[in-house]
Amino acid sequence: MEQQLLISDLATDTLKGLSSNPKYLHSKYFYDDAGTIIFQDIMRMKEYYLTDCELEIFSEQKDDLLKALNNDGNHFNLVELGSGDGLKTKLLLSYFFNKDANFQYSPIDISQKANNELAESLNSEIPGLQVTPKTGDYFHELQKINSNDGTPKVIFFLGSNIGNFSLEETHDFLRHLSNYTNQEDKVLIGFDLKKSPDVILKAYNDPHGHTRRFTFNLLHRLNKELGADFDPQNFIHHCTYNPESGTLKSYLVATKEHKVRIEALEQVFHFGKWESIFMETSRKFDFDFIDQLAAEHGFQPVKNFTDKRGYFVDSLWEKR
Ligand code: AVJ
Repeated sequence: MEQQLLISDLATDTLKGLSSNPKYLHSKYFYDDAGTIIFQDIMRMKEYYLTDCELEIFSEQKDDLLKALNNDGNHFNLVELGSGDGLKTKLLLSYFFNKDANFQYSPIDISQKANNELAESLNSEIPGLQVTPKTGDYFHELQKINSNDGTPKVIFFLGSNIGNFSLEETHDFLRHLSNYTNQEDKVLIGFDLKKSPDVILKAYNDPHGHTRRFTFNLLHRLNKELGADFDPQNFIHHCTYNPESGTLKSYLVATKEHKVRIEALEQVFHFGKWESIFMETSRKFDFDFIDQLAAEHGFQPVKNFTDKRGYFVDSLWEKR
């Protein structure tokens, strides 16, 4: 049932994107099982500084984070949107737990598999921690949590996942977040910051080819799930960074004129020579814009946790 629904969303969005001019596909579909594994390869390479930065912030500033989040010792619910394998969060969870912080952990993820594995590993790594995983849509689950009881919430949205949104989606996301939080609830959002374009480009145009594989994986997914006949040989992977808007964009570009048939859509798509498919945005932010986003959506910036290089920030806001 769930699977069926996802496939038809994939089909609808693919039809929309490939019928548009210019063509695009949605990066949220990168994360099937194969894509999730490739993304872990990305996170492990040193060029992809984002993960290291946030790990550094969590390991070196865990005490300041606890002080900022501990709600004066009163019970709070630590909710994480898109928890995945929880690698970085676990570091904080075990520190908070060992310091007797009074909290429960509610990871929300679209993947049942990720949730099961996270719950299981937490059970053995931090026995005694109260974990209540929710599988489903972020805001659907958050709405349920918000209406259930008056427990104050701290909501994590880490890793610069917010950078994948268009500006419109960014505002939609924050509007929802604002609607499903109460006064004095807190949010901790990871933002990748503007920096040397060379550093940014190397993280997304890496010498190991992981990002390339990650991006091409969506074509393989469409071949598998929608019966498409994409030939990856007909495309190259290309990234650009615009330092003005802070947008890293990735494309697949057709190297020759050809057609792709997609069985599930009963349709053939024509690709001109050098025609592009826009695949992903990874936005880079600055502090002014972050503060502006907070203010516009009814949040008060409380504290910015940055790494030593100043590459990345976990920004803590409080709902006013
Ligand atoms: C998971 C959205 C944070 O945009 O940096 C990594 C995804 N794409 N390399 C990012 C990604 C290409 C990543 N986020």
